[in-house]
Amino acid sequence: MDTGLPSVVSQPVFASLTRSAIFLVVTIDPGSGPEAAVRGLCADLSGLLRAVGFRDLQGNLSCVMGIGSRAWDRLFDGPRPQELHPFREIRGVHHAVSTPGDILFHIRSTKRMDLCFELARQIMIRLDGAVTAVDEVHGFNYFDDRDLIGFVDGTENPRGPDAIRATLIGDEDAAFTGGSYVIVQKYLHDLAAWDRVPVEEQENIVGRHKLSDIEQPDALKKPYAHNVLTSITEDGEPVDILRDNMPFGQAGTGEAGTYFIGYCRTPRRIERMLENMFVGSPPGNYDRLLDFSRAVTGSLFFVPTATFLDALTPEKAPPAPAPATPEPAAPSLPSKPPGDGSLGIGSLKEEAGHE
Ligand code: HEM
Repeated sequence: MDTGLPSVVSQPVFASLTRSAIFLVVTIDPGSGPEAAVRGLCADLSGLLRAVGFRDLQGNLSCVMGIGSRAWDRLFDGPRPQELHPFREIRGVHHAVSTPGDILFHIRSTKRMDLCFELARQIMIRLDGAVTAVDEVHGFNYFDDRDLIGFVDGTENPRGPDAIRATLIGDEDAAFTGGSYVIVQKYLHDLAAWDRVPVEEQENIVGRHKLSDIEQPDALKKPYAHNVLTSITEDGEPVDILRDNMPFGQAGTGEAGTYFIGYCRTPRRIERMLENMFVGSPPGNYDRLLDFSRAVTGSLFFVPTATFLDALTPEKAPPAPAPATPEPAAPSLPSKPPGDGSLGIGSLKEEAGHE
């Protein structure tokens, strides 16, 4: 399909049915050597992924690499993603902290943590002496896609063409079409306190029924329900983000929670949701989940296309521009979702080796 857009392959922000995930956040050490090492890894990431992922194709190993605002300026010349900025802390009824992070690796597999771990290990071997890991969370699937608070998480995520519309940049930032933004936050739960809340009130806080996962009727939802405060509109139309939160924890220390990860074509949507949750909408009508769950990290990254990463070299230079006409081998980003209900991004897995 000739869309008139440059031919680009996005990173696999849509990977689904995650059973295991590693969220690895690193900062780049001072100096030009570490910067060159990171640029070198960008270009080789697809090869590393192919090598580890091929050991069990059924494991559907994938990796999304995000780049923070400060790191962007250190790594690249040339145009900058229009909405890339450091994560903005929010001081409302509760506090959304902003914490350091230059690169995010979001590594997922539909069934095997060993694949995720091996890829993370290979990435860190490549970046040895160039980066410092500032956070690493290993997420697991908890019963039927539930959070540790006992509720199913992810139900209202957009799917198919809606997921594309929600997450991938279109022509609003032509130099970065096919890219995305991602915000991550690590939340630690006070599960003992949460478990003392009667299930009926827990359901009011989330806005869904706990066992069946069915949404409460709008007329009965509390104004502070999580799904009320995170439902937002633009020009009167509801708009989405794509989440792939994972539970994590250590029984011994009792440190456990939800790793929140949200992808979107603009960070503004996620920032508005956070504002509603932490400050309240109207102010004071905040998200009661936060009385039981504390955000201990917060970072924002830009997710360039796989095409962009593949074209990088260790030298600091703008990556080669995407070809002006679509290449048969590389699936194009549709300007409008295809009518067949498919994602329309074709065989990204084989083409890019990023999924
Ligand atoms: C402790 C952290 C969090 C937990 C445990 C949590 C849990 C949940 C649960 C159980 C649902 C209902 C099922 C679903 O539709 O997925 C939900 C929905 C949702 N959450 Fe969260 N969430 C957390 C943080 C966040 C944050 C930080 C955001 C955005 C900034 C967010 C955005 C959303 C959205 C957009 C929905 C769907 C609302 C709808 O359309 O019904 N969540 N979350």
